[in-house]
Amino acid sequence: MNSANNGFEKSIVVNGLVRKFGSFTAVDNISFDVMRGEIFGFLGPNGSGKSTTIRMLCGILEPSGGSASVLGYDIATQAEEIKKHIGYMSQKFSLYDDLTVNENLDFFGGIYGLKGQRLAERKNFVLEMAGLKGRENELTANLSTGWKQRLALGSAIIHEPKMVFLDEPTAGVDPVSRRNFWDMLYQMAEAGTTLFVTTHYMDEAEHCHRLGFIYQGRIIALGTPDQLRSKHIRGDIVEIAIDTSQEALQAISKAPGVEEAYFYGATIHAKVASAERDAKPIERHLANQGFKNFSVQAVQPSLEDVFVSLMEWDVVPYSQFSFD
Ligand SMILES: Nc1ncnc2c1ncn2[C@@H]1O[C@H](COP(=O)(O)OP(=O)(O)OP(=O)(O)O)[C@@H](O)[C@H]1O
Ligand SMILES: [Mg+2]
Repeated sequence: MNSANNGFEKSIVVNGLVRKFGSFTAVDNISFDVMRGEIFGFLGPNGSGKSTTIRMLCGILEPSGGSASVLGYDIATQAEEIKKHIGYMSQKFSLYDDLTVNENLDFFGGIYGLKGQRLAERKNFVLEMAGLKGRENELTANLSTGWKQRLALGSAIIHEPKMVFLDEPTAGVDPVSRRNFWDMLYQMAEAGTTLFVTTHYMDEAEHCHRLGFIYQGRIIALGTPDQLRSKHIRGDIVEIAIDTSQEALQAISKAPGVEEAYFYGATIHAKVASAERDAKPIERHLANQGFKNFSVQAVQPSLEDVFVSLMEWDVVPYSQFSFD
């Protein structure tokens, strides 16, 4: 019966899922679906319940309430089936440092029952994909973080799972390695693999097909990046290119029409009801305050703007709060 379920359009179905640790509720009645072949991004500040959710969906942590299925298997009653059929890259890459690249792949292949020709084929695929060809005999301990990350992904997909969970796979990895890593994820999604990935990087979130945003154990937004932008930003965003300082931020916060202002990279963003109406008065206000060499212009809201808006934090942008 479950083999039939594997043909489902939905790879993950979550209904009212709860996880408590003692009296503390880490995951609080969440519900969402993930479609087959989708890259689903799961975002939220530190401690919001992302890893706890993933561990329940991977069948390694029992839920306290609600239900969920992954590839048609029930997480409460068919955890063993789930573990066999998914790939899981944990927040700490679970590689053996004292084994070589080749030995790690043998080890993980063995866990999933691969041997002989099939193991050789899969190892070859993974080494090619990860760009680790020729480095098979290097000790894992000697690989840089970016290469370890590729090997960890390779180990997680050695058995060709249809569904892969990745918990902050790119934390602490340089931008070029992150991009290369995402190229591998796209290839996998195009080949029909469903990916559930947590990240604190907004550029990565932009590249997901759909996003869920979790805060204090609850899902507070769900949708495509564009849907989130149009639904959760009421009004407009103006970008002020200025020498960023607390003084500039204070002045902009007090400018007419500004609902909220926050540092945004090397600029400051302000949330206003109407950029057309409010940009000029902000300019005048800054000039009156003695600021020079600045410009004010309307910009498309980014996901970071969405999250600042969702969290209703006054001056701390999401990125500054929770980036590793
Ligand atoms: N085994 C546990 N026992 C007690 N509390 C736990 C346990 N595991 C997680 N928690 C708590 O549950 C909450 C959610 O933790 P979780 O690891 O899911 O957060 P997260 O969103 O993955 O955070 P991060 O971005 O830092 O990885 C936190 O307050 C955490 O301290
Ligand atoms: Mg986590």
